[in-house]
Amino acid sequence: MNLKPETLQRIDVAVAHYPVKRSAALPLLHLVQEDIGHLPGEAVEWIASRLGLEPIHVYELVTFYPMFRQEPGGRRRIKVCRTLSCALAGAYQTLAEFEKQFNARQGGTSPDGEVTIEFVECLASCGTAPVVMVDDELHEKVDCEKARQIAAKIKAQARRES
Ligand code: FES
Repeated sequence: MNLKPETLQRIDVAVAHYPVKRSAALPLLHLVQEDIGHLPGEAVEWIASRLGLEPIHVYELVTFYPMFRQEPGGRRRIKVCRTLSCALAGAYQTLAEFEKQFNARQGGTSPDGEVTIEFVECLASCGTAPVVMVDDELHEKVDCEKARQIAAKIKAQARRES
């Protein structure tokens, strides 16, 4: 596994923080996916061995939680918060609009490889729900109309860069 030194450092901190090693599995999955973009078998096995767990227990988490990806993602990442405030404010409709705009399903990548669309948990901006991150950029109050505008901008950028 080729992880960045800062990821390895954060993993050490996370492991030290959880006396029950199994509890560190979720944070480690997040850290590894953040670093390499997805969670191939090699990553799952690495995490299992780092925590002294059976790989099957880590695989179960990867397949249970929709925010984890086993396949490489698209060039851009659209993350839609689905935690309570955002869900109540229409996050599911927002995500459906992105799915329509990019012809991709939640957790999947558009056919042109441009974007991966996924649900994530609270992005700590609950007062401006529904909230969406496009790569590292936060977008607030993203209703379907705003989702269409964001999608149009992403498509225009992709055209300029191709
Ligand atoms: S619930 Fe969506 S940002 Fe907190």
